Amino acid sequence: MESTHNVALDRSSQLKAFDDTKTGVKGLVDAGISSIPDIFLAPPVTLTSPKPPSSSQFTIPTIDLKGGTDSTTTRSDLVEKIGDAAEKWGFFQVVNHGISLDVLEMMRDGIREFHEQDPEVKKGFYSRDPKSKMVYSSNFDLFSSPAANWRDTLGCYTAPDPPKPEDLPAVCGEMMIEYSKEVMKLGKLLFELLSESLGLSTNYLKDMDCTNSLLLLGHYYPPCPQPDLTLGLSKHSDNSFLTVLLQDHIGGLQVLHDQYWVDVPPVPGALVINVGDLLQLITNGKFISVEHRVLANETGPRISVACFFSSYLMANDRVYGPVKELLSEQNPPKYRDTTITEYAKFYRSKGFDGTSGLLYLKI
Ligand code: OGA
Ligand code: NI
Repeated sequence: MESTHNVALDRSSQLKAFDDTKTGVKGLVDAGISSIPDIFLAPPVTLTSPKPPSSSQFTIPTIDLKGGTDSTTTRSDLVEKIGDAAEKWGFFQVVNHGISLDVLEMMRDGIREFHEQDPEVKKGFYSRDPKSKMVYSSNFDLFSSPAANWRDTLGCYTAPDPPKPEDLPAVCGEMMIEYSKEVMKLGKLLFELLSESLGLSTNYLKDMDCTNSLLLLGHYYPPCPQPDLTLGLSKHSDNSFLTVLLQDHIGGLQVLHDQYWVDVPPVPGALVINVGDLLQLITNGKFISVEHRVLANETGPRISVACFFSSYLMANDRVYGPVKELLSEQNPPKYRDTTITEYAKFYRSKGFDGTSGLLYLKI
């Protein structure tokens, strides 16, 4: 008993010491560590990775968005493909999404530069206050999760109220705003296509405020000296309606599909789209918010930029539940109504413990 207590004390003081450095995992790597601190040791069961038996059936779909806005025949084809992917996989990649390669590259470079700049400048942004306009920290759930992840993150809401220019980091702030505008345009198209695939009117999901707010997180996964002992990002599903993810060439993102961890291979120029918990909730489980994780890697850094359509940390009292038009006697509501504020509070306190937040709302 006594020793368990000491271990716990020791862990919490280690977490605090790590947090106090304000330089995140990147700071540890810069200091030249050759083994990872105990706080990062993942429970072995979370590191297992049953691989899918064979390839093609276990590849997330890639959807060409060209034609989504012009001809009606290609649009209906697209609507079907997107609906299918959201239903069976909850994850897909999109190409010809309208965001130029230059913008994608400049966004990734900007995030990399933020994390690789003078630590003293970076420290000025380090915060765990969800009310801060810009937040740079390592592990949003550092003090509540069973093990810390090998990752640092810079983030802010870019819609509806982007931070003032003077609150943005000099190296990447402008790019974050510009990239978000592009993601917002893409998101609107995706919500239109998803609405149509549900048999709802084109603007239905947008009119439910699914595109009202956008949270941008720029992740930096430093190279890890012992990648088999920790994770870049623990298994979780996203607390969003939809997530648009830009990854680089390193890889490591995996999706849990039929009990198997399936790699989401980097496709140059593509964006990864995934259904979040709130879209699973309002579609009464038709679209699935699938668990995913990121492996740590000996090579790196890996950069990714995740944009969440949600109002996660902001006050929002609109009530969300399964859309009435989708319900019937055969398809009664599976979840109770909630507000984003209520759900976010629960999601945040839960941390990435490997369970779905939607269990909390199950009827
Ligand atoms: C996330 C996420 C994946 C990645 O931020 O929720 O799943 O590749 N990111 O960084
Ligand atoms: Ni995620």
